[in-house]
Amino acid sequence: MTQGNTWSDRFETALHPAIAQFNASIGFDLELLPYDIQGSITHAKMLAQTGIITQAEAQQLVQGLEQVLREYENGDFQPGVEEEDVHFAVEHRLTEIVGEVGKKLHTARSRNDQVGTDIRLYLRDKINKIREDLRQYQRALLNLAENHVETLIPGYTHLQRAQPISLAHHLLAYWEMAQRDWERLGDVAKRTNVSPLGCGALAGTTFPIDRQYTAKELGFTDIYRNSLDAVSDRDFAIEFINAASLIMVHLSRLSEEIILWASQEFSFVTLKDSCATGSSIMPQKKNPDIPELVRGKTGRVCGHLQALFLLMKGLPLAYNKDLQEDKEGLFDAVKTTQASLEAMTILLSEGIEFRRQRLQEAVAEDFSNATDVADYLANKGIPFREAYNLVGKVVKTSLAAGKLLKDLTLEEWKAIHPAFEEDIYTAITPQQVVSARNSEGGTGFQQVRYALSQAQSLMNEN
Ligand code: ARG
Repeated sequence: MTQGNTWSDRFETALHPAIAQFNASIGFDLELLPYDIQGSITHAKMLAQTGIITQAEAQQLVQGLEQVLREYENGDFQPGVEEEDVHFAVEHRLTEIVGEVGKKLHTARSRNDQVGTDIRLYLRDKINKIREDLRQYQRALLNLAENHVETLIPGYTHLQRAQPISLAHHLLAYWEMAQRDWERLGDVAKRTNVSPLGCGALAGTTFPIDRQYTAKELGFTDIYRNSLDAVSDRDFAIEFINAASLIMVHLSRLSEEIILWASQEFSFVTLKDSCATGSSIMPQKKNPDIPELVRGKTGRVCGHLQALFLLMKGLPLAYNKDLQEDKEGLFDAVKTTQASLEAMTILLSEGIEFRRQRLQEAVAEDFSNATDVADYLANKGIPFREAYNLVGKVVKTSLAAGKLLKDLTLEEWKAIHPAFEEDIYTAITPQQVVSARNSEGGTGFQQVRYALSQAQSLMNEN
């Protein structure tokens, strides 16, 4: 079927081949085919329901559409560029199968409300899948956290050792980000799940259609109130890519940490062979390619967000062909986010091992217990700012003597302030330093155990 046939007799010649290629979206929008068929089946049923076509005609259309889907899934239906897009391709194949009646399918519909419907059905489906992927990722984080409540790790600010924390607390921070991502996607789903079907090219239709019927059949919770808005809105896609970008940014931050932790400088984790790669020239190397790729792919997804914003910014109402450019970025954002979540879930479940011995040494080899010395004095009635200054002095003398705080003698402590007693030594062990931070949301073991159980019950929600 040539494009001259698809359009009206107004056109005398077919498109220039290069222009046909340039104009076509069939190279990427076949991804929408199952959703296009779903939308068309519902549309055909509605046409019969409202008496616009007969029930017998609708039945032929539905059966024909089901056959097109089967052929597509078998790989027997592979339309080329001559079809321009998935919508024409399906309609043409349908007409080949069912004959003349196939030409009735497009009554009371435009490709504009059709593609709008397809893309929303597609995205609704993908959002549900990504939310499941997020749950798997959260489960992997939680399992790891459960094994590491009492494993201590240096906590950082400015990438400088700050205070020791429970490793579970650190991992649960990523769980929380993922939980917000999961909620955010649920919110995006609400605005995605609105039906534009029946809005026609831009202004509605002269036929007595039933938009509520098609919306309900397709599982949409509402219909667009304004036909112009319906065919030109892509807010929901921007919202989705925004949510996907945030997922990627969160994964990327964890990736960055894993990359650092796996370095010889940190040596906090070992990457298992199943999730690490070698160098083609340096045989001693084991590279963290997986988190590096996730970090790298984050730029791609954030880029798609910018692209879609820029695509929309100058568009007059209603549909413009520019909107055909919404798809590749959106599809890629979906695939990249899914693939990255899956890779990180595998990495966390079986690809990473925390080096407990090394972590234990790490939290004992620095001055990250200094705040606790100040808190110790403050508890004895010395104003915190004064205590803070005194501890500055303690750190200075310790550094000069090449000692850690735990190595100072009681005389040395007392020389700084007489309030120091023997119990200073227990107050500054990493274990005690962490345990003492029992304020709500803090790293104290009791808090972390509570956070774990909270996370567990939040994950049972849908
Ligand atoms: N392939 C087109 C797209 O993706 C379908 C809608 C075409 N509509 C039109 N008026 N040319 O946007």
